[in-house]
Amino acid sequence: MALLTILKFPHPILRAKAEPVTDFGPELAGLVADMADTMYDAPGVGLAANQIGVTRQILVYDPEPDKEKRAYQVVINPKIVVAEGEEVGEEGCLSVREYCSEVKRAWKIVVEAQDLAGQPLVIEAEDFPARILQHEIDHLSGVLFIDRISALKRALYKKRLKKMLLAEKEEQEETQGANG
Ligand code: NI
Repeated sequence: MALLTILKFPHPILRAKAEPVTDFGPELAGLVADMADTMYDAPGVGLAANQIGVTRQILVYDPEPDKEKRAYQVVINPKIVVAEGEEVGEEGCLSVREYCSEVKRAWKIVVEAQDLAGQPLVIEAEDFPARILQHEIDHLSGVLFIDRISALKRALYKKRLKKMLLAEKEEQEETQGANG
């Protein structure tokens, strides 16, 4: 088990557009296994490759909260081909510290993708799994859920984050000073 570092907003790689995967070899399988370990450890219900600094179109997700029933799905090179209905639901993100907000998403989607072996994969998802998939597919285009909330809410969050980061930095400097 290898845990990867999850990048946090405003890291620039979170804004990068991920490239399609063309090599479905053992290296990909290793990366995906590490991504799943990292997702469960966080804990989260989904993780996109940008979030661990890899700009490839790879995501893992598992909407099942029960530890005993864990079975994550690997989705490579996904494209949303059908999006129907609308639903507002609460979202957070492993890359966005201490923030949750309601986000409007399609209620049902159909995704065409590839599996870990490069074979075609079609996923039909509704409700919560559809929300996770839309959130993770957004990551692969450099889009975060905070881009889908009102400009005012986003501005308030950015202001709060700035304060949080500044307080963290000051705390670090104080600790270093005390140690030195
Ligand atoms: Ni996220």
